[in-house]
Parts: sequence; structure tokens; C-alpha cells
Amino acid sequence: MAVKFTVPTINIFAFFLLATFINISAGESQQEMGLGRQKLSHLHFYFHDIVSGRNPTAVRVAEAAMTNSSATSFGRVFMMDDPLTMGPEMSSKSVGRAQGIYASADLNGVGLLMVLNYAFTEGKFNGSTLCILGRNAIFSDVREMAVVGGSGAFRFARGYARAKTHTIDLKTGDAVVEYNVYVFHY
Ligand SMILES: *[C@@H]1O[C@H](CO)[C@@H](O)[C@H](O)[C@H]1NC(C)=O
Ligand SMILES: *[C@@H]1O[C@H](CO)[C@@H](O)[C@H](O)[C@H]1NC(C)=O
Ligand SMILES: *[C@@H]1O[C@H](CO)[C@@H](O)[C@H](O)[C@H]1NC(C)=O
Repeated sequence: MAVKFTVPTINIFAFFLLATFINISAGESQQEMGLGRQKLSHLHFYFHDIVSGRNPTAVRVAEAAMTNSSATSFGRVFMMDDPLTMGPEMSSKSVGRAQGIYASADLNGVGLLMVLNYAFTEGKFNGSTLCILGRNAIFSDVREMAVVGGSGAFRFARGYARAKTHTIDLKTGDAVVEYNVYVFHY
């Protein structure tokens, strides 16, 4: 008999909990949090992935026993701290770094899992970061990855990043990638 009463009792309790929670979050207005109007920013830069030579910016940190016999290097993991520049030349103005991990995550094709932060060091975005998560099929013409968040000027960020290989040295694996990033933020 008691069971019959338990179900509605829980529902009513859950309703009040939810109502209180909604009330609390609605009380924190955008103005109180110092948020103005939402903006859309377009960022354009080049990413330098240097895996060869004495000063690589991306290094292999892990792999599986089967990685070397996999046609797609499945299981290989790199850690990167890649320079970001305004132009395609390494000597052009630096705007930040791309810091994070890329890993071969596709058994049947070349597809990287990208998990990284863009740490900007120039202009109004100096000190702000964007968090990128996505799939990077590096031999496709254009790859799209998600902007899943950010910090500083990019709090509440969401958007996408489009990557296009500018140059790749197939002997060394070094690559320059052009990025166009579109991001909503406040
Ligand atoms: C919701 O917020 C208002 C204003 O701050 C307050 O008066 C009211 O008691 C709150 N209600 C609940 C269910 O917390
Ligand atoms: C895979 O090949 C690389 C390069 O030849 C070698 O350094 C590494 O030890 C190999 N890994 C395994 C798990 O056999
Ligand atoms: C970026 O911010 C850092 C830390 O506040 C500061 O040291 C540096 O000079 C700034 N760089 C530029 C180009 O404004």
C-alpha cells in the first residue's frame, strides 16, 4: 500500500527541487555576470606541426602493441605544443600555441582524435583559450572540429574550426595547416 504513495511523493519532491534550482539559476542574470551581447568572431591563423628534427613541437608519447602493424597507425598518441602564426611562414607573427593531444582513432582510415586548447598570446584574445574537440581526417581537403568551450574572452564559447592543409612534407611529416575558426562568445 505504501508503494502507491511513494511514487507521487517523489515526483512532488523532485518538482520542488527542480523549481528551486531553476529559480536560483534564473536569478543570476547575464548583466550580473558581466556578459554583454553575444558576438561572432572569425579567427584565421596557421598551425605548425613539427615532428622531425631536433626541436619537434609534437612528440609521440604512446602506442599499442599493434600500432606498427596497423595501416592507420591505430593507437598512436602525440602530445603537441604547436606554434600558431598569422601567416603560413614560421617567421610570421606568432599569435599563440595549440596545446594538446592528437591520436590515431580510426581502424579503417586516417582519422585523428584532436583534443586541444588554443592558447592565444596576442591582441584582445591574449590570455584567452579555446577548447577544441573533434575528428581530423588529415587527408581530406577540409576538416571540421567543434569549439566546445573557452576561457577569458571566450567564456561560454561555441563554434567550429575548419582545417585545411597548407603544406605537408611527406618525408618528415611536418605540416602547416590553415585554420578558420568561427566562434560565438560574449
Ligand atoms: C525565487 O526567487 C524569488 C526572488 O529572488 C524569491 O522571492 C522566491 O522565494 C524564490 N522561490 C523559490 C521557490 O526559491
Ligand atoms: C614501432 O616502431 C617504432 C619506429 O620504428 C619503434 O620505435 C617502436 O618501438 C615500435 N613500437 C612497437 C610497440 O613495437
Ligand atoms: C599578453 O599577456 C601577458 C600576460 O598578461 C603579457 O605578459 C604579454 O606582454 C601580453 N602580450 C601582448 C602581445 O600583449
